[in-house]
Amino acid sequence: MDKSNSVSALIDQQPGRDEFLEDVIAGLNATPKQLPSKYLYDQRGSQLFDEICRLDEYYPTRCEDWIIKRYSHEMAEQIGPGVMLVEYGSGSSTKTEALLHALDRPAAYVPVDISRDHLGLTAKQLREKFPKIEVLPVCADFTQPFDLPQPRQDPTHTAVFFPGSTIGNFEVPEKLVMLQQIADLCGRGGGLLIGIDLQKDVEVLEAAYNDARGVTAEFNLNMLRHINRELASDFQLDEFDHRAVYDSEEHRIEISLVSSSQQKVSVSDQTFHIEKNEKILTEYSHKYTIGGFADIAAEVGLMLRRSWTDEQQRFAVLHFALLD
Ligand code: AVJ
Repeated sequence: MDKSNSVSALIDQQPGRDEFLEDVIAGLNATPKQLPSKYLYDQRGSQLFDEICRLDEYYPTRCEDWIIKRYSHEMAEQIGPGVMLVEYGSGSSTKTEALLHALDRPAAYVPVDISRDHLGLTAKQLREKFPKIEVLPVCADFTQPFDLPQPRQDPTHTAVFFPGSTIGNFEVPEKLVMLQQIADLCGRGGGLLIGIDLQKDVEVLEAAYNDARGVTAEFNLNMLRHINRELASDFQLDEFDHRAVYDSEEHRIEISLVSSSQQKVSVSDQTFHIEKNEKILTEYSHKYTIGGFADIAAEVGLMLRRSWTDEQQRFAVLHFALLD
């Protein structure tokens, strides 16, 4: 009912249908076939992801939550007072609350997410919880440059909060482009607080992406449902199986949908043939070492200042500042 209210208070830079169609067609023409992981997140996808975060097998959320709660004051001190905090891929912003509580008079909180309705709802709830903080949601694809809102209170600086190891979705070239964009957005005096998933036993990793209840499988398949709805395509969801395996050379989980039969799918005016056992890659989830990630970030001038981990060293949160 007051949905219009929350949606109108949101800056909308969500990618349009044309771009969605172009991405899907390009991905289905590629070898191997692949679909950008950002399209996992329609409203249902965002909800399924929240459910993943509560699974026993999915340790990253629990570890990162613990780290942030435990060290929020140290993190807030690193970030400094009067900040405009911009969160990439904010989803339900659950991890942000501890940080928002700890920050010294933040100028504004800017959650950025591609899933518009979900973002609108989250922003509304946050405004109720933090009446003193200006919440300025931006619906955008953060892999592309986007415009920042102008808060009422002038921020002393900008910091990007990028939790969840979402950076792990990207391969090195894209990752560098994104880190460069973050560095540009922050400018001098700004910083980056980022969560990264650490390398560990393959059993633990693979269990996290192959949960017993099948929520991850449902999340993965939902991408096809999202594409069918938005692009009027005809993917047969029951002709695909979820697959998630760890590639220990590339240090990443590779998530795909494997076709259980030879089949055809039409998207717009094109028909694509899919072989039995052919995979469509939907997501990578890279796993890092703190040093390895710091080396990548250093390429765009982001210098590691502090890092925090959980007791089992499964996950890490890093703070970077721009080199002057
Ligand atoms: C949101 C990209 C960090 O890679 O762990 C979880 C997404 N996919 N289970 C991850 C995801 C399947 C998640 N990120």
